[in-house]
Amino acid sequence: MLDGYQREINYLRVSVTDRCNLRCVYCMPAGGVAAARHEDILTLEEIEQVIRAAADVGVRKIRFTGGEPLVRKGLPGLVKNIANIRAIDDIALTTNGILLPDFGEELKAAGLKRVNISLDTLKPERFREITRLGALEDVWKGIRAALRLNLTPVKINTVVMRGINDDEIIDMARLTLEMPLHVRFIELMPIGTQNPWVAGRYISDEEVMEVITKHLGPMQEKKVTGSGPACSFQLPGALGTIGFITALSNHFCHQCNRLRLTSMGSLRSCLYAEKETDLKGPLRKGAGREELRKLLIKAINLKPEKHKLMEGWRDSERVMSQIGG
Ligand code: GTP
Ligand code: 5AD
Ligand code: SF4
Repeated sequence: MLDGYQREINYLRVSVTDRCNLRCVYCMPAGGVAAARHEDILTLEEIEQVIRAAADVGVRKIRFTGGEPLVRKGLPGLVKNIANIRAIDDIALTTNGILLPDFGEELKAAGLKRVNISLDTLKPERFREITRLGALEDVWKGIRAALRLNLTPVKINTVVMRGINDDEIIDMARLTLEMPLHVRFIELMPIGTQNPWVAGRYISDEEVMEVITKHLGPMQEKKVTGSGPACSFQLPGALGTIGFITALSNHFCHQCNRLRLTSMGSLRSCLYAEKETDLKGPLRKGAGREELRKLLIKAINLKPEKHKLMEGWRDSERVMSQIGG
């Protein structure tokens, strides 16, 4: 379906939990955020109902996000049911990778096609500082599991932060020479309660690109499977690609194709939306497919033309783990 600005909305990001086994500095405060009560989170059956209605209004791609989606029990069963919906042709997952060795095989068998894994550093100590709780080697186990299980293309999400990991841009880019990984440099976004932390640490992707071409030479444009916002390039002879997600500097709102479903059961028509459309209330009052379809259409019509982040840093009520990135 087209929204009010002639954009085709065919991608639904589904946050299946607001919980996470890490506490990344750009995503959450050190103490984490109070987790929603179990009964306030959509059940897997309710999520499936929403996805079926979304397929009716033109959604073709589902991406499961969190928090950390792999901490939600029963995810493989949900993936299996979604894989049976004929209109859905791509099912992907955005994860921190830690639990992939445990669940990758079951998810692949259920119909999951591919994974995007967060990795901001190649240094173990720094990894612990950024994620506050994680061990780098566990993410590598997850990345290796994804490659072995053919959950490909495997994309790596790297948030670049001045003074934190900007000295690793070249090493992260070089990973694509050695492994079939698609490393995407993401501009740091001022979302949620992390605004004071984020200020001063933002680096534009233009600067990241300059560093890469200065040290590793020119790159060629190269398309990678997916319909997200990255622009991708390849170094000569590389096995993988280098992508840029210019979330702030050159926003891709004019070609935005997505809607988001929060774990609490609301539709967000934009990452930075001020208003959400509640589905949980109607679902629990017995809303059927037709009513859900109408609510989805309402949310699509609420999709703003663009975000206004560059016109002033602004706080949002929710932190990233509650929206799903
Ligand atoms: P594919 O291209 O299908 O692989 O997916 P993707 O890149 O859309 O998914 P992923 O979950 O890996 O997102 C990567 C980064 O892009 C995350 O930091 C997201 O927060 C960011 N992102 C995704 N959608 C949007 C959006 O609509 N607006 C902005 N500003 N950033 C987004
Ligand atoms: N800015 C940019 N990217 C972020 N992510 C989480 N918080 C932020 C932020 N403030 C990224 C994670 C993950 C993806 C879903 O969102 O690195 O890969
Ligand atoms: Fe968890 Fe992802 Fe947030 Fe890190 S960025 S704390 S892995 S939800």
